[in-house]
Amino acid sequence: MKRIVFPLLFLSAVLCLLFCATNKSPLPSVAHPDGWREKVSEDFHGTKVLEAGYTSCKNCHGNDLAGGESEVSCFQCHITYPHVSGWTLIGASEFHGNYIRGKNWSMASCQKCHGDDYRGGRSKSSCFDCHPNSGGPEACNTCHGSQANAAPPEDLSDNVSTSIIAVGAHQLHVTFLGGCSTCHAVPASVSQTGHIDESANAEVLSELQWNRTSRTCVTECHSDAQKSYIWNSF
Ligand code: HEC
Ligand code: HEC
Ligand code: HEC
Ligand code: HEC
Ligand code: HEC
Ligand code: HEC
Repeated sequence: MKRIVFPLLFLSAVLCLLFCATNKSPLPSVAHPDGWREKVSEDFHGTKVLEAGYTSCKNCHGNDLAGGESEVSCFQCHITYPHVSGWTLIGASEFHGNYIRGKNWSMASCQKCHGDDYRGGRSKSSCFDCHPNSGGPEACNTCHGSQANAAPPEDLSDNVSTSIIAVGAHQLHVTFLGGCSTCHAVPASVSQTGHIDESANAEVLSELQWNRTSRTCVTECHSDAQKSYIWNSF
């Protein structure tokens, strides 16, 4: 045996000198082709996954894609896709709505795969499956309001109680006034300047003298000095 082992060791050492030394990649992948991580390569894994799905990856990267026997988790490099398990589970902290809220309501990253019109794009999975209203997820009642109208409840944090300032007497007023424009500048689309901004709360038209501390307005309708009209207590 020894007689064979030594020449074999020698041969592998020579082979390694030849090949290991000429391999310029410092940490070559043992499982995947060289271009696997390079966006410009025709072997890029991202392109393969979007074409053929990631079922085949689960064999080695685990059913949850968190590593499995490969010990390389997809999520060490990707936050959102492959979508995490709670992505479509209402109430889960990982629910996609919560993720979007955390990005100041920007859905631009979703459009990269689901299409500019949200109808599927290269993901072939349409947001309209669950957001069927005109505009899909950009419909005025996706982030606030209900099927009845876009005014809270729900507010932006999914609250429904009228004692919450962001909910308050919205529905009383919307029914009575027939719209939002008495109190707000109304955007024509989600992306209109002045709609979603960095401020913590919604903007109320200045002529109403909305006072967030006393939760009152000063308007012709509320001029009766004997009465105090408190927005979220009625
Ligand atoms: C070592 C880091 C790393 C790991 C691990 C990784 N990826 Fe990627 N992936 C990348 C990079 C970098 C890109 C290109 C990102 C970009 O678009 O800027 C990418 C892109 C993608 C894309 C295309 C996204 C797009 O917008 O075109 C898909 C799909 C994808 N990866 C799936 C997976 C899956 C599934 C796994 C696990 C089996 C995985 N990736 C593991 C680094 C990684
Ligand atoms: C036969 C097992 C196996 C399959 C199937 C597999 N992988 Fe891997 N993958 C590994 C192993 C092992 C590693 C870690 C060692 C390495 O990089 O070779 C790895 C590493 C990776 C990396 C990181 C590469 C790097 O250079 O750091 C990415 C990205 C990746 N895999 C994506 C995928 C995607 C996407 C799929 C499905 C299309 C997939 N893998 C299928 C075994 C596999
Ligand atoms: C499988 C069904 C489903 C798909 C597909 C889906 N959504 Fe949703 N989404 C929901 C449900 C259900 C809610 C409402 C949860 C609630 O009322 O708290 C929601 C809520 C939202 C919200 C509002 C979050 C909030 O808390 O107010 C946004 C924004 C959103 N989705 C965007 C998208 C986008 C963008 C896509 C496509 C890329 C998409 N959704 C695809 C089911 C889905
Ligand atoms: C890298 C591409 C990519 C990005 C970015 C992406 N998605 Fe997806 N999404 C997909 C693909 C592909 C599917 C189809 C199922 C799967 O592969 O998980 C999907 C499925 C979904 C589903 C489940 C659909 C169903 O009917 O069950 C929801 C919900 C969803 N995406 C929402 C979003 C939201 C919201 C964003 C932005 C925050 C987003 N996605 C970003 C590629 C992507
Ligand atoms: C992607 C989520 C989202 C969608 C879709 C959306 N809104 Fe909003 N809306 C918000 C947020 C966030 C605020 C609070 C903005 C702030 O901080 O001032 C808001 C506030 C408002 C306000 C209060 C005034 C203001 O700008 O602060 C009105 C009125 C309003 N939206 C109407 C609409 C209408 C009309 C549409 C449809 C064309 C719409 N919204 C679609 C997220 C959304
Ligand atoms: C009578 C005046 C009035 C009318 C009418 C009205 N709002 Fe408001 N709205 C308010 C007040 C007051 C607030 C609370 C502002 C604050 O938090 O400081 C508010 C807050 C909001 C918020 C923020 C919710 C949050 O979670 O912070 C949205 C979104 C909103 N309104 C949308 C609408 C829409 C859409 C309509 C029409 C369908 C409408 N409002 C009609 C007075 C009104």
